[in-house]
Amino acid sequence: MSKDLVSVLDFSIKEIETLFQEAARLKKDGKKAVSRLSGKTLAIILQKPSTRTTVSFASGMAQLGGTPLILNSQDLQIKRGESLADTARTFSLYADGIMIRANKQSDIEELAEHASIPVINGLSDKEHPCQILSDIFTIYEMKCRSSMDGLKKIKIAYVGDGNNVSHSLILIAAHLGMEIAVGSPKNYEPEKEFIEKGLEAAKASGGKISVVSDPMAAVSGADVIYTDVWASMGKDEEREQRKQIFMPYQVNDALLKAAKPDAKVMHCLPAHRGEEITASVMEGPQSVIFEQAGNRLHVQKAILLKLLS
Ligand code: CP
Ligand code: NVA
Repeated sequence: MSKDLVSVLDFSIKEIETLFQEAARLKKDGKKAVSRLSGKTLAIILQKPSTRTTVSFASGMAQLGGTPLILNSQDLQIKRGESLADTARTFSLYADGIMIRANKQSDIEELAEHASIPVINGLSDKEHPCQILSDIFTIYEMKCRSSMDGLKKIKIAYVGDGNNVSHSLILIAAHLGMEIAVGSPKNYEPEKEFIEKGLEAAKASGGKISVVSDPMAAVSGADVIYTDVWASMGKDEEREQRKQIFMPYQVNDALLKAAKPDAKVMHCLPAHRGEEITASVMEGPQSVIFEQAGNRLHVQKAILLKLLS
């Protein structure tokens, strides 16, 4: 078992199944307080803004009887040049786990290497594993009657920017034997490294991965349409220019019609209505976006119990 959750590939299929079963049990209890992580502390380090990831982990930790510490990296000695290795060694002396939202995946890897306590990736430039585990849990509950085998019959269409969220989706779909079709504009596809890793994982699972430039082709026959912002954190200055390039990739009523009639629409949030998704699709009957956001709490709690117990 991996000490950390740095990539979605850190958990085996069996571990993901157990995680989902725990999340389903926790979901029944809602926000109920228990003492399963009593006396434990989770340090949350933020190098970038976060609403859902921070609040679901912090509330989840409190509901499990533990204590979250929310730390802006600007307030830590990292800002003055203290190394990640020394920071990791120090945190390991006081806390029981670290959740970090970082600019660079390599920083999370370095922290995990030097910490003796679990390190959880709360988003980097390359991956967003907590988000994606929670999203697959949403699909597992809504579309697969809580069966892991059921996931193998699901086709996800990811439409838009080939970013951190798309990378984790490719990896998990390949790991679990799902089909994923990515529809991205030329030069904005997911990074080659993640497509190759996904293709490798798909060999063992029977999963299917394709990357196309036609969004209609990507969503054809899809059970789930997933999108994310066109300009991720750190790319804000490209937002206007990207709007022109990405407009044909907007998830709107016409695109939704090209998927299966009972397809669900997902978005990790925050969303820009009128850009990557229209308000009518976001608020429409096929959207499960806020159910998806709600499941972050239950899945993040299951991750905390798995790694910190
Ligand atoms: N989806 C997600 O990670 O949201 P935040 O950036 O608000 O944490
Ligand atoms: N791709 C987005 C996800 C936000 C949760 C970003 O990195 O900003």
